Amino acid sequence: MKRLIKNGILVDSDGQYAQDLLIENGIICQRAANIEPGADCEIIDASGCYVMPGGIDVHTHFNIDVGIARSCDDFFTGTRAAACGGTTTIIDHMGFGPAGCNLHHQLHLYHQYAAGNAVIDYGFHGVIQHINDGILDEMAGMVHDEGISSFKLYLTYHYKVSDAEVLRALWQLRRVGALTTVHPENDAAIAFRRSALVAAGKTAPIHHAQSRPLECEAEAIGRMINLARLADNAPLYIVHLSNGLGLDYLRLARQRQQPVWVETCPQYLLLNEQCYLREDGAKYILSPPLRNQQELDRLWLGIADGSIDTVATDHCSFPYHQRLALAAGDFTRCPNGLPGVENRMLLLFSHGVMSGRISPSRFVALTSGNPARLFGLWPRKGNLNLGADADVVMIDPRQSTVINHRQLHDNADYSPYEGFHCQGALVLTLCRGEIVARNGEFTGQQGYGQFLRRRPFDSQITAKMG
Ligand code: URP
Ligand code: ZN
Ligand code: ZN
Ligand code: ZN
Repeated sequence: MKRLIKNGILVDSDGQYAQDLLIENGIICQRAANIEPGADCEIIDASGCYVMPGGIDVHTHFNIDVGIARSCDDFFTGTRAAACGGTTTIIDHMGFGPAGCNLHHQLHLYHQYAAGNAVIDYGFHGVIQHINDGILDEMAGMVHDEGISSFKLYLTYHYKVSDAEVLRALWQLRRVGALTTVHPENDAAIAFRRSALVAAGKTAPIHHAQSRPLECEAEAIGRMINLARLADNAPLYIVHLSNGLGLDYLRLARQRQQPVWVETCPQYLLLNEQCYLREDGAKYILSPPLRNQQELDRLWLGIADGSIDTVATDHCSFPYHQRLALAAGDFTRCPNGLPGVENRMLLLFSHGVMSGRISPSRFVALTSGNPARLFGLWPRKGNLNLGADADVVMIDPRQSTVINHRQLHDNADYSPYEGFHCQGALVLTLCRGEIVARNGEFTGQQGYGQFLRRRPFDSQITAKMG
């Protein structure tokens, strides 16, 4: 089966081109001006539209059990929503398993969750819930036999790891060719502030934000940067950055040529802590929390000046009614996380590209090219080069979209972006050449998604990030 995308503006991380794109057997096989359609070729007219690499969302939590609740999107509903939002690959975070379990235990479980369900391609990040010799031994096999070339550490929550464990993990992961990713928040500082707030009866959603101010996060970012340097300059990726101070620490590390990268998410660019003062403030409880407008502005500067590398969603959905039932007015009992996997591409396109903050190429770098390079998917994904998977999203900048949860495809009962006006509309999403979404409607198939064995971390590939 051949498909020819004609008359569009092709965009990749390097630039934009008036070219057509020919797809055969799910692969990009020609890219040139005015390609003539052969026999049996479906023509897709992309006049006036951007034709870009499908989105790669490297931060989701489908089907995750956080102890007090299980997130309401599984690998079917979560990837369906992703596809409708222009994303063609996700890398999900394996959740914590039973106390003492090893890395392969969670890997087998996650393969069971995803196989036969995912509608787009997927990989997993390993999760480190404790460190011992056995876990360190397992890491090489995870990278080279299982295709898991990134691992996440949490510095807070139930399975937080100590600095000593962090050092051992960083050192070994660098050695076996994996990227260490981290949720950086200072757990002791949060516990200290939370107990004072709770003792004073301050348990409303705004107190969630007050329990973990940006210094809790920035301190942990600074610490992780220094620990990574001490661990033989291990490569480090900071997830869900929410503030400018943390970004300043990262800029400083970069000036010292340290291999560090950072992700932010649409919620930290577009929602501020005023949300917690709304009647439905519990909808916005996540960690790190939403910050004030000054931090949002600082993150936008980082998006524009190249100091932020990726935009992912951290999609982790708990319905509003469940949040209310569990929390009953007490933020400490509310599961943390926001839905958003379907909105990332259009939000960043509208508020980034259409508002003139970033170029279309930078948009591609943030949403697809850089994630592919960092997480072992390049050159198969993250670009429109010959031989790459035909993962494509078509965006029409002339149309506009108003976000309305009733039209989304996740399993949550709300969107944090309800009523947001976006300039642009997602017209088509193709995953390996198959049309998985058209005009916001799902047209794919449950189980079509393939597990991606990712390549080991490669500093030559990350050297060319956009
Ligand atoms: O509050 C959040 N972000 N929940 C999802 C898990 C995590 O911390 O990434
Ligand atoms: Zn996190
Ligand atoms: Zn997360
Ligand atoms: Zn829904």
